[in-house]
Amino acid sequence: MNILVTGGAGFIGANFIFYMLEHHPEDRIVCVDKLTYAGNLSTLAPVMERENFRFVRADICDREAVYGLFEEERPDIVVNFAAESHVDRSIEDPGLFLQTNILGTAVMMDACRKYGVRRFHQVSTDEVYGDLPLDRPDLFFTESTPLHTSSPYSSSKASADLLALAYYRTYGLPVTLSRCSNNYGPYQFPEKLIPLMIANALNDKPLPVYGEGLNVRDWLYVEDHCRAIDLILRKGREGEVYNIGGHNEMRNIDIVKLICKALDKPESLITYVADRKGHDMRYAIDPAKIHGELGWLPTTMFAEGIQKTIQWYLDNRGWWENIISGEYQDYYEKMYGNR
Ligand code: NAD
Ligand code: DAU
Repeated sequence: MNILVTGGAGFIGANFIFYMLEHHPEDRIVCVDKLTYAGNLSTLAPVMERENFRFVRADICDREAVYGLFEEERPDIVVNFAAESHVDRSIEDPGLFLQTNILGTAVMMDACRKYGVRRFHQVSTDEVYGDLPLDRPDLFFTESTPLHTSSPYSSSKASADLLALAYYRTYGLPVTLSRCSNNYGPYQFPEKLIPLMIANALNDKPLPVYGEGLNVRDWLYVEDHCRAIDLILRKGREGEVYNIGGHNEMRNIDIVKLICKALDKPESLITYVADRKGHDMRYAIDPAKIHGELGWLPTTMFAEGIQKTIQWYLDNRGWWENIISGEYQDYYEKMYGNR
C-alpha cells in the first residue's frame, strides 16, 4: 500500500512513520509536511534514505501542490496528522489554526475524492469533547459525548471532524476518525507540558505550572496511539469515530513533581503562573469501543513510559537544545515573560 502521511515531521506523525516502517516494511510511506516551527526534518533522518520512504515539503492548504502529489503518488491511504497543535498558540493567534486544521483538512479530502482512496483517516483529539468536572470521576468521554470545545485549537479540530463526517455521508468518502488523549514520548516539541518540564528542569529553570496545577490529563505513550491508528486503518469501520486512551489520568502538578524526582531536581523550581484562558479541567477517555471492536489496549504503562521518555530527552539533548536555542526563545519570552 502507498500511505500518505501529513505532518510526519512533527511529534506523533514521525513516531507513526517509524512504527509503520518497522511493522509494515512492505508498505510505502510518503510524508508531506510544511515544516512549520513544529516540524523537524532531522527527526526523520533515520528513515530518509529508505527506498520505501519519501519526504515532500508542502502545505496541506496548497491545493495545487496537494493535487500534483496525488497525481504522482496515487496513495491508497491518507493519514492526516498535519495541524497547528498547541492550545496556547491558538489562544494568541487563532487564524492559522482555522487555516491549516479546517481548510487544510478539506483540501486533503477533496484530493481524496478526486483521485480516489481506500481510506482517509483524520487524527483528532479528545479536546473536541470539552472538559469534565474534577468532582465526577465516574464520567468519561465516549464517542457519543457531544462536541463542546473550549479553545480555538479544539474548535478547529472539531470543525475538521464534522467536515470529515460530512464528506463520508455526502460523498461516500471512506473516512475514519480517532480522538486520542494527551500523548507523550520521544520527539515531542518542548512547548508541551512533559518535554518543557524536562528541558527546564535539566537547565535548572523555573517550571511554570498553570493555575494550581490541578487540571487532569489522560496520558498515553505515543507508540500506543500509533498502533491504534494502524489498527483502525486495517480493521476500523468507515464513517466511525474511535476514542483512544488508556485510563491514565494524572494531575499536572503530580507529573511535574515526578519529573523533578526522576531528575533529582528540587521542587522549589516549580513556579505557579497565571492560568491558561478557558483552561479545560479534566480529560478522560472511555476506550471501550476500540477495545471491543479492534482489541486495542495500551501496552506501555505510565511508570515505564515516563522513564523511557525522560531517558530519551537525556540521551538526545542535541535534538531539543537545538530547538530551544532558536526562535523558540522569543516564543518563550512572549508566553511566559509576564505571566
Ligand atoms: P506537532 O505540532 O508536533 O506536529 C504537527 C506537524 O504538522 C509539524 O510537523 C508541522 O510542520 C506540520 N504542519 C503544520 N501545518 C502544516 C500544513 N499547513 N501543511 C503541512 N504540514 C503542516 O503535532 P502533534 O502533537 O504531533 O499532533 C499531530 C496530530 O495529532 C494533530 O492533528 C493533533 O491535533 C493530534 N493530536 C495530538 C495529541 C497530542 O497529545 N500531541 C493528542 C491527540 C491528537
Ligand atoms: O488532549 C489531547 C491534546 O493534548 C492535543 O489535542 C493537543 O494537540 C496537545 O497539545 C495536548 O493539549 P494540552 O493543552 O492538554 O497539552 P499541553 O502539554 O499544552 O498542556 C498539558 C497540561 O499542562 C494543561 O493542563 C496545561 C498545563 N501546562 C502546560 C504548559 C505548556 C502547564 O501547567 N504549564 C505549561 O507550561
